[in-house]
Amino acid sequence: MKILITGGAGYIGSHTLVELCSAGYEFIVYDNLSNSSKEALNRVEKIIGKSVEFVEGDIRDKKLLQEVFANNNIDSVIHFAGLKAVGESVEKPLEYYDNNVNGTVALLEVMKEYNCKKIVFSSSATVYGDPKEVPITEDAQTGIGITNPYGRSKYFIEEILKDLYISDKSWKIAILRYFNPIGAHESGLIGEDPEGIPNNLMPYISQVAVGKLKELQVFGDDYDTVDGTGVRDYIHVVDLANAHVKAVEYLNNLTLNIQNLPLICNLGTGKGYSVLEIVKAFKSASGADVPYKIVARRDGDIAICYANPTKANELLNWKAKRDIEQMCKDSWNWQSKNPRGYNNDIFA
Ligand code: NAD
Ligand code: WQD
Repeated sequence: MKILITGGAGYIGSHTLVELCSAGYEFIVYDNLSNSSKEALNRVEKIIGKSVEFVEGDIRDKKLLQEVFANNNIDSVIHFAGLKAVGESVEKPLEYYDNNVNGTVALLEVMKEYNCKKIVFSSSATVYGDPKEVPITEDAQTGIGITNPYGRSKYFIEEILKDLYISDKSWKIAILRYFNPIGAHESGLIGEDPEGIPNNLMPYISQVAVGKLKELQVFGDDYDTVDGTGVRDYIHVVDLANAHVKAVEYLNNLTLNIQNLPLICNLGTGKGYSVLEIVKAFKSASGADVPYKIVARRDGDIAICYANPTKANELLNWKAKRDIEQMCKDSWNWQSKNPRGYNNDIFA
């Protein structure tokens, strides 16, 4: 029995492979490498000490997916594959809806054809839009106030998955809403490797610290928060990866008395940190300087977003263990060992 990992060469996927392997699961990675490199899988192989089965392909390519299902005993899918750049999604909405929504529908159709009905889906806190209150629980309103096509693609896919379950109760579906994943595997072999100038805070800070970028622009210091800068729930990517192992276990162990399906869980720490608090924590973890300047707010940003992770704590028996110091330390370890990301040969 294997788990198909779509998008398994990406940032969260690659970390999840390591945790799945230590939990004894077999898997096969399916990725079109549109936002990742094969080198990430080579590095995973170094960490786990065995080879990773990989198919280079697009989730919209049903023919290739059918071949993969026909040739492998696939029991469940962890579905990471998707485009995720918020700004780019505003420029290219059709590309995002095609890749993320049509891609997911194609995957679900092939899964159905091969009677594989277990799926863990990468959703996002973005589905909550601008939350009415924090910490956010899973029953908070979704779909309203989402400011970009990327976020809406996640919301639409969630609705599709819910409809699928209504139509056929034998589907076992987990929807995981990630907050802000940062950090890297402690080895420094794998980590986040964004193309071009990073959109997200932590890769931007790390690239400033390593001297690749001049200074951080802090988007607004006039929010109603502790110091006026935006507050988010940062979660270590290895903790996030472990939650996927727990979600697979949860779906595998469901009894006939099925409750809580589709399972919908927030994955965060439950703590919010401001941009300036992150800068401070990063400086102290790395010893590097992070020059910054305050600039205007970024369009579409919200003031505060952090999770109530109780549901995942209780139902998945999972808790984020790594604190903000560890997250910064591991981000820095990855960045300083791989200043050019995977285009780096020090581990070759
Ligand atoms: P990533 O870009 O590093 O990984 C996504 C992977 O999917 C990449 O390897 C990419 O090549 C692959 N991919 C994209 N489209 C594909 C397609 N059509 N067919 C096959 N492969 C395809 O992103 P990540 O940070 O690892 O995120 C993984 C998932 O989690 C994504 O769905 C993302 O939207 C979601 N998510 C990420 C965050 C975050 O902040 N990183 C937060 C919430 C949700
Ligand atoms: C965090 C904070 C910024 C960059 C995004 C997506 C979301 C999810 C995670 C996928 C905010 C501030 C940032 C910078 C800054 N992705 N910031 N200077 O916006 O919470 O979430 O990534 O699902 O959908 O929207 O994350 O890391 O971009 O920003 O001041 O150069 O850092 O304003 O307060 P965000 P982020």
